[in-house]
Amino acid sequence: MAHSSDMIAGDIEAYLKSHEHKGLLRFITCGSVDDGKSTLIGRLLFESKLLFEDQLAAIEADSKKFGTQGADIDFALLVDGLAAEREQGITIDVAYRFFSTDKRKFIVADTPGHEQYTRNMVTGASTADAAILMVDARHGILTQTRRHSFLMSLIGMRHVVVAINKMDLVDYSQARFNEIAEEYREFAKQLGLENITFIPMSALKGDNVIEHSAKMPWYHGTTLMGYLETVEVDDERLQREPMRMPVQWVNRPNLDFRGFTGMVTSGVVKPGDAIRVQPSGKSSTVSRIYTFDGDLDQAVAGQSVTLLLADEIDISRGDVISGVDKPAQTADQFETTLVWMHEQPLLPGRPYLMKLGTQVVSATVTDIKYVINVNTLEHTAGKQLDLNGIGICSLSLDRAVAFDPYKESQDTGGFILIDRMTNNTVGAGMLHFALRRSQNIHMQHVDIDKDARARAKGQKPAVLWLTGLSGAGKSTIANLVEKKLHSAGQHTYLLDGDNVRHGLNRDLGFTDADRVENIRRVAEVTKLMVDAGLIVLTAFISPFRSERQLARDLLGDDEFIEVFVDTPLDVAEERDPKGLYRKARRGELKNFTGIDSAYEAPENPELRLDTTRMSSEEAADAIVDLLRHRQLIV
Ligand code: ADX
Repeated sequence: MAHSSDMIAGDIEAYLKSHEHKGLLRFITCGSVDDGKSTLIGRLLFESKLLFEDQLAAIEADSKKFGTQGADIDFALLVDGLAAEREQGITIDVAYRFFSTDKRKFIVADTPGHEQYTRNMVTGASTADAAILMVDARHGILTQTRRHSFLMSLIGMRHVVVAINKMDLVDYSQARFNEIAEEYREFAKQLGLENITFIPMSALKGDNVIEHSAKMPWYHGTTLMGYLETVEVDDERLQREPMRMPVQWVNRPNLDFRGFTGMVTSGVVKPGDAIRVQPSGKSSTVSRIYTFDGDLDQAVAGQSVTLLLADEIDISRGDVISGVDKPAQTADQFETTLVWMHEQPLLPGRPYLMKLGTQVVSATVTDIKYVINVNTLEHTAGKQLDLNGIGICSLSLDRAVAFDPYKESQDTGGFILIDRMTNNTVGAGMLHFALRRSQNIHMQHVDIDKDARARAKGQKPAVLWLTGLSGAGKSTIANLVEKKLHSAGQHTYLLDGDNVRHGLNRDLGFTDADRVENIRRVAEVTKLMVDAGLIVLTAFISPFRSERQLARDLLGDDEFIEVFVDTPLDVAEERDPKGLYRKARRGELKNFTGIDSAYEAPENPELRLDTTRMSSEEAADAIVDLLRHRQLIV
């Protein structure tokens, strides 16, 4: 064979070309804690020769310390991080790991708990091309496997490889492999998951990870690395979608410059393009695409830029800029799939913060249509969603947002819910479509307003919101206050827990979910009564801060007066006017506040009444004094 200089040049060129085109594959690994996820990632990193000698030595030492048998290196130690953390059973935070082979570059999102990646998966934070689902050959398909598969089908994962791991512990049995694959195939069919590859493996021993295993001659398929190096990636996916740019901030250093900064999440934008801003619906034209390195003649998905527009229109953080040909939709009520990720269950009626792209709004689940059993895929009725629960829910927001259905765009259709009191991320979900009612119900304008009605009564409307334990004295005090106000000629109404529960709320009991709904309804009724111009008194335990805040938010600034009737549990129990504490202590009454149901005391009430130091009369006087002081009455 003659090696002409031409051919050598051609080879070099081909070599360079092959590297230039070396694609990138993003993938995630899922599985239960002990399925061998970390061991596998450790081995992939190890085999791609990105490790240093000293790291290796450390792992070998650790492997001995932690009792891994034989000469096998425990690759899990590599990923799980410091030995100290491992001894305490703590796993490190989510990390992205990079490695490469001659054929491809890889990014693997290594996430210890599945909560974190549920959140990332759903919100598009991890746009994985493929998922490796780890299954322990000894245990087979578990609930966790099914849950992860369900999530993958929800987010539309295109390639799934089921790595049936720890084959060494089932004697490399082909029958066991087939059995698990068959069971999984059956389940995946119902989910509509396609493109599933099964690989029998031992991450620890290295069977079928990089090289074909001599232990499993019956398996003729690809190795895991072979799969990862060849699975198809749809690189141009993002750029084909319609243009979206959620506005991160409004950049206005001086009067001559007003730009809108954010990341283009899909599509392409160029100067001269007509755009629409949602939810306001205003339109304009892109005049410049500004970056620190100079203007661009186009920006594509994934780029962060500042857009300048031809017209002075009002845009704020959270708005979405769309191409005018296919703008985002707007709505304030949706059908959604919700995945709950917190020990404290989702309670319909409770307001949460919803983060959708750069928009943050208040959101309430108005209805759980059904809960999905991830094992059987059956739909069951449910009043709440527990940890890991998945439900189809109606969601209602306090204002309209710009969105796309999740199946069209993860970035503008995937959201998370945040607890307003603790700031924890408690759920993740996907918007399917706007509820028709959200588009067809408009506020009716009325000519006689709250001010007019209040003027006719010669008073300023407000609510005195009494909260405290059962037996604290709320009803007694509220009753006294109402008598005083009434004889002073004020127009009042007293909403009392026991009474309202005989009528409007007779369908509700004392579970957390029912108490949330109880207070939500009372808050809405209170709002109507304040609108009618009344001074309203409420006497409900109203044990949760969230719902008292909800009531506060429904009313005007000075209209909500929270009165904490502060009676310690032992005192209330000692009084026990209805004999309920005794019943609860005997176990005849479940979910009793203070005994086996929580009471969250107000942190900043407008008034705190210590009933161990004052009589009900004095407490009532204190409330009337406060009203006078605030000039609500004269
Ligand atoms: S709330 O928690 O939803 O605000 P609400 O004020 O309406 O409660 O009702 C409380 C009243 O219901 C108590 O004063 C008591 O008389 C009665 N009750 C019956 N069962 C319970 C229970 N499990 N916990 C608290 N109160 C109960």
